[in-house]
Amino acid sequence: MDTATCILGIETSCDETAAAVVRRHGDGSGEILSDIVFSQLDEHAAYGGVVPEIAARAHVERLDGLVEKALGDAGVELGDLDAIAATAGPGLIGGLIVGLMTAKALAAAGAKPLYAINHLEGHALTARLTDGLEFPYLLLLVSGGHTQMILVRGVGDYQRWGTTIDDALGEAFDKTAKLLGLPYPGGPEVERAAARGDATRFDLPTPLRGEKRLDFSFSGLKTAVRQAAQEIAPLSDKDIADICASFQGAITATLRERVGRSLDRFAGIYGGERADPPLVVAGGVAANSAIRACLKDLCGERGFRFVAPPLQLCTDNGAMIAWAGAERMARGIGGDRLDVAPRSRWPLDENAVARVGHGKRGAKA
Ligand code: KG4
Ligand code: ZN
Repeated sequence: MDTATCILGIETSCDETAAAVVRRHGDGSGEILSDIVFSQLDEHAAYGGVVPEIAARAHVERLDGLVEKALGDAGVELGDLDAIAATAGPGLIGGLIVGLMTAKALAAAGAKPLYAINHLEGHALTARLTDGLEFPYLLLLVSGGHTQMILVRGVGDYQRWGTTIDDALGEAFDKTAKLLGLPYPGGPEVERAAARGDATRFDLPTPLRGEKRLDFSFSGLKTAVRQAAQEIAPLSDKDIADICASFQGAITATLRERVGRSLDRFAGIYGGERADPPLVVAGGVAANSAIRACLKDLCGERGFRFVAPPLQLCTDNGAMIAWAGAERMARGIGGDRLDVAPRSRWPLDENAVARVGHGKRGAKA
């Protein structure tokens, strides 16, 4: 019996409008038949951040065409699909409504099951699509809205080990860029400037160093950057490059220490059960090559395998949403009711204690 399933995934939780068709084979392997992402970056750049109302309107304008193209590129029709999956949260509510309502309409029209997917679950399961990973593994999710260390034990079985208690890592990059007068989104700009700079010029803090808990903190670092910049203003290009290099150096030092603790904890729990316990990285900040190199090095030191899915699957996309739906379906988890509501806040680990100012800007994930 062919147990392959073919699923359409829709993602509209932030500033990417995305649709994809993914096939999951009976042996658990996956295949991306189409994957289209429309980034709204240009629409938001002038405002220095994502504007929810503009995002929702842009999703409305583009989603229909994108879904049609995703189906066309995959060579399938609505009737060929086994299910429709859409991000139902966390995220900006206007965008979530657009994506989920579209998915509901398609599910109703095609008499298909609907899967209302947690966006973070999409990120968490991507490495099984790209690298066929077995459970359990650790996920470091570093984006504009989240900085989380998650133990992925199974489909629907997640434990949040650490989260940011203030800014998300991408947010720290974006805010640092802004105060240095660099354009939005700041992450790539800071990385570019850092490559020309002297990382030893400014002695910036590595927050929470030595603390046993596995959380992250970045706002103190941002404040230290502001003070350093104010002291030497007006800034030359060389000053900006040196600040960026010092900032990025402090970030990698922090990640090395904080993530290292999680790897030790994982090894303590699963010990010799796995020859190569994996650490997976996801989110837009995973594009940063200094951060990738630092994590790779750290994994090498501790005997962990470092898995970084291709960048277009690390950032927001529809394939991860379709895949999460396919994984649920393969485990016999039924679809959601057509009256399922979108949730702007939706922790992956419902047992995790909320942190004060837990690093969500708007509701980017
Ligand atoms: O996952 P993502 O594309 O979107 C969401 O947050 O949902 O992540 C975007 C974030 C932004 O904060 C951006 O500045 C950051 O990822 N980013 C980077 C780099 N490229 C993107 N941060 C550091 N270095 C980069 N090269
Ligand atoms: Zn995301």
